[in-house]
Amino acid sequence: MSVVAWLKRSFRGQGRLDPTTGMLGIPSSNIRPFAKSDMDACRSLYTQNERGRFPPGYLQTFTDSLESPAQLFLVVELLGQVAAVGGIYRTPESPQGCSLVFGMVRPELHRKGLGTALLLARLAILPRPTGLWWAFLSSAGGSSAFFERFGFQHYGRHALPPDMREFDCYRAYLEESDWTACASILHKRRVFLTREAVQVPIGPAIPNTSLERTREG
Ligand SMILES: CC(C)(COP(=O)(O)OP(=O)(O)OC[C@H]1O[C@@H](n2cnc3c(N)ncnc32)[C@H](O)[C@@H]1OP(=O)(O)O)[C@@H](O)C(=O)NCCC(=O)NCCS
Repeated sequence: MSVVAWLKRSFRGQGRLDPTTGMLGIPSSNIRPFAKSDMDACRSLYTQNERGRFPPGYLQTFTDSLESPAQLFLVVELLGQVAAVGGIYRTPESPQGCSLVFGMVRPELHRKGLGTALLLARLAILPRPTGLWWAFLSSAGGSSAFFERFGFQHYGRHALPPDMREFDCYRAYLEESDWTACASILHKRRVFLTREAVQVPIGPAIPNTSLERTREG
């Protein structure tokens, strides 16, 4: 982490999301909710990313997630093609929490700002927070450094279905100004996000309820 990034992080508070991270690298794109017609493109994105990044055997879980009404998936389109996909749902255990799931970018487009756009879009599409939002995610390892740059902090490990494999758990919180910034950064970077009539559903409970999931515990 650079000295500037370290100073910024210390000043903002540990675990608070910094939506400005990497904002200048975000390319113009179109982000909209997943539609059934995106299924093949999204499964292909998963398969292209699977090796070394997702544990084997999760394609069906990913497909089920795409089809589930309890999770919202957004797709990022570049030149009319699906270039990235990622999901979000509100956590049933915590009214101020959301989970980010299965975020991925087409491999040849990695490190071109699309993952950053997808992260900001998923947060921007949440309703205005009352107080703050907690964003949670589980990582098999490969993307930890990406999320840590935004302020996500490791808070434990838990086992997830279908095979109860252990994942690293990360969380960050957003104050109302951070939530507002997510949308305004996308707007400035000419990312067109379809928000009208889009709602983030309440999703499945995380099996391990013993984990501390909020700052207050
Ligand atoms: C993780 C992922 C979504 C990031 O998207 P991206 O479009 O590549 O990321 P961005 O271009 O917005 O940001 C890239 C910056 O993040 C940082 N970064 C750190 N670790 C990274 C990693 N593993 N992958 C990509 N960026 C990483 C770097 O600073 C990088 O900037 P640099 O290229 O100048 O060094 C994408 O790499 C991906 O699809 N990975 C495979 C699937 C996956 O692991 N998903 C996460 C599930 S929890």
